[in-house]
Amino acid sequence: MARYPVFTFVFLICLVLCTNAQQGGTECLKANAKSCGECIQAGPNCGWCTKVDFLQEGEPTSARCDDLAALKTKGCPEDDIQNPRGRKQKLKDIPITSKGKGERMDPANITQLRPQQLVFELRSGEPQTFNLTFRRAEDYPIDLYYLMDLSFSMKDDLENVKSLGTALMTEMEKITSDFRIGFGSFVEKTVMPYISTTPAKLLNPCTNDQNCTSPFSYKNVLNLTKDGKLFNDLVGKQQISGNLDSPEGGFDAIMQVAVCGEQIGWRNVTRLLVFSTDAGFHFAGDGKLGGIVLPNDGRCHLHGNMYTMSHYYDYPSIAHLVQKLSENNIQTIFAVTEDFQPVYQELKNLIPKSAVGTLSSNSSNVIQLIIDSYNSLSSELILENSKLPEGVTISYRSFCKNGVKGTGEDGRKCSNISIGDQVEFEISVTAHKCPKKGQAESIKIKPLGFNEEVEIVLQFICECDCQDKGTPNSPECHFGNGTFECGACRCNEGRIGKECECSTDEVNSEDMDAYCRRENSSEICSNNGDCICGQCVCKKRDNPNEVYSGKYCECDNFNCDRSNGLICGENVSSVELFRKERNKMSAWSSACTSTSL
Ligand SMILES: *[C@@H]1O[C@H](CO)[C@@H](O)[C@H](O)[C@H]1NC(C)=O
Ligand SMILES: *[C@@H]1O[C@H](CO)[C@@H](O)[C@H](O)[C@H]1NC(C)=O
Ligand SMILES: *[C@@H]1O[C@H](CO)[C@@H](O)[C@H](O)[C@H]1NC(C)=O
Ligand SMILES: *[C@@H]1O[C@H](CO)[C@@H](O)[C@H](O)[C@H]1NC(C)=O
Ligand SMILES: *[C@@H]1O[C@H](CO)[C@@H](O)[C@H](O)[C@H]1NC(C)=O
Ligand SMILES: *[C@@H]1O[C@H](CO)[C@@H](O)[C@H](O)[C@H]1NC(C)=O
Ligand SMILES: *[C@@H]1O[C@H](CO)[C@@H](O)[C@H](O)[C@H]1NC(C)=O
Ligand SMILES: *[C@@H]1O[C@H](CO)[C@@H](O)[C@H](O)[C@H]1NC(C)=O
Ligand SMILES: *[C@@H]1O[C@H](CO)[C@@H](O)[C@H](O)[C@H]1NC(C)=O
Ligand SMILES: *[C@@H]1O[C@H](CO)[C@@H](O)[C@H](O)[C@H]1NC(C)=O
Repeated sequence: MARYPVFTFVFLICLVLCTNAQQGGTECLKANAKSCGECIQAGPNCGWCTKVDFLQEGEPTSARCDDLAALKTKGCPEDDIQNPRGRKQKLKDIPITSKGKGERMDPANITQLRPQQLVFELRSGEPQTFNLTFRRAEDYPIDLYYLMDLSFSMKDDLENVKSLGTALMTEMEKITSDFRIGFGSFVEKTVMPYISTTPAKLLNPCTNDQNCTSPFSYKNVLNLTKDGKLFNDLVGKQQISGNLDSPEGGFDAIMQVAVCGEQIGWRNVTRLLVFSTDAGFHFAGDGKLGGIVLPNDGRCHLHGNMYTMSHYYDYPSIAHLVQKLSENNIQTIFAVTEDFQPVYQELKNLIPKSAVGTLSSNSSNVIQLIIDSYNSLSSELILENSKLPEGVTISYRSFCKNGVKGTGEDGRKCSNISIGDQVEFEISVTAHKCPKKGQAESIKIKPLGFNEEVEIVLQFICECDCQDKGTPNSPECHFGNGTFECGACRCNEGRIGKECECSTDEVNSEDMDAYCRRENSSEICSNNGDCICGQCVCKKRDNPNEVYSGKYCECDNFNCDRSNGLICGENVSSVELFRKERNKMSAWSSACTSTSL
């Protein structure tokens, strides 16, 4: 066993040296391209030679596809090489708004992100790169919706929240001159066992002669408004309610706040949702207790400002909430009491662009909490992209303040940015294959919590220009059995072969390639030849003394084994041992050993 690593090492050296020497590292030849289109998809360095007499005697069509440098070396004039390159173009590139504090602007006219729209023409393997610039606008409007748990234990909190409207207005004026505030409250699903459903308890769920209001799931009390006094008045009229179990139905409420934008009046500005509670939360699956199994549908069901489907749909799942909050650019601040910090910290980690603050038991610190959370939320910028089309990858590199660079996960993020700071992201998009025809694709990238985004329209380069200029039924292609294009034949249906000389009646096309595959290998003619009418025609080497042989071109007379009896410089007495080890590892056929040695 101790020898094993040594042999593995030798084997690897051999593999590296041999493949380099043998293949010249070219992915283009390996692709076995039958047409110019296939060739340019094989890699960014592949070109297709259209020169008619380019191929040497016996060379397969796929030899037209090679490394650009190799094609030139082999005598293909530059003009005859098909090598379309990718491109990019900015369609919409409005400069970032710079405005002074106090200067009023329609939020729809403020631009914080640039550019806004691009077109990428992508060639497989060739990335297109652009720089996205972001600068937080000064004095950007804020909408804040205060969602409060009104179960009985929040009684003292309600007292303090009653004056929140005007106080918060005063504080927020230091941050923005355009601030709006709204209010909603929640308790629990109105079914057993979450609440008591005896007629008396339905009217007043509280004991001890306390005056409580009927339990409800979610109530929108005040649409987003500039009027802080109205907030105080309306919240002052709110009454506490009661329920039986401890976790509350807050998720039902968050979902409605997120998706009922029209009713609640969210503008396309910074959207903050403050969720204040002194208890845990129910989520998807918990509805079963009350016999509710229908998954939350993520739609707005507000009638008369009440959520009317709490008894019908289960609580939303966390993932569902994340999706809806992000879709609606809502940033969440969990203002929760000390006891529940750990739970909500966990939740915060699952919800991007959310923050947790510790609410004092009577909510007296809520304003400072909101300001701190807002500052922490807005000092971090995280980019998120829509689902990528199949075969497309994206990478980010961030240039944050003071030239701090990040890649990987960090490449999507800049922290500790303040108003007026400009950050830049270098974003690369690479296609690795062509999509099915006719598919229009695009990617959208947006900073989480903002309503601005960049759209990248993707177009794929999958064919060569010369493919439009072919001669159908050309005599070059076996008496008119194919189209002569890009210097080679594209066979008509039913025909096959380099010059369309085979008929699929004679050789079934699917079987034809199978004839050229050794055992279970996926390589046609061991990658050393072309399959012509079901038979391997081996590639020729520049050195006429070096030849491939065997039914599948699987043998040769110039590979490692034979280099003056040395394996890539290893010593002779190791050869036999090496071969044994290697054969074990790679299921090498012994047929070669006998012919090549
Ligand atoms: C916003 O831009 C539009 C068109 O550019 C313009 O007509 C409108 O007056 C602008 N609104 C404000 C408030 O500046
Ligand atoms: C993007 O910005 C960085 C830093 O400013 C710069 O080094 C890089 O060349 C830019 N990339 C592009 C594609 O403009
Ligand atoms: C409950 O309401 C009634 C009538 O509105 C009032 O007389 C009573 O004092 C209230 N009780 C408490 C504890 O607030
Ligand atoms: C909020 O606005 C919507 C429509 O704009 C309205 O139907 C609803 O009654 C309003 N809610 C409150 C609490 O004022
Ligand atoms: C916000 O922007 C979205 C699209 O970006 C648009 O559909 C929606 O109508 C806008 N809402 C408001 C209130 O302007
Ligand atoms: C809130 O509670 C703290 C102690 O926890 C107390 O010092 C403060 O006065 C209370 N504030 C109000 C407005 O009741
Ligand atoms: C954030 O930036 C400020 C300067 O703008 C700097 O003083 C502070 O140390 C930075 N904080 C972190 C955590 O990097
Ligand atoms: C295709 O090739 C065959 C000979 O193999 C020839 O007889 C036939 O005419 C050709 N077909 C066409 C459409 O030219
Ligand atoms: C080829 O695959 C078949 C089924 O997967 C297997 O039974 C057979 O042993 C394989 N042959 C070789 C030579 O690996
Ligand atoms: C060749 O390898 C054998 C054992 O593998 C070793 O004994 C011998 O010294 C080596 N010869 C040279 C020239 O390195």
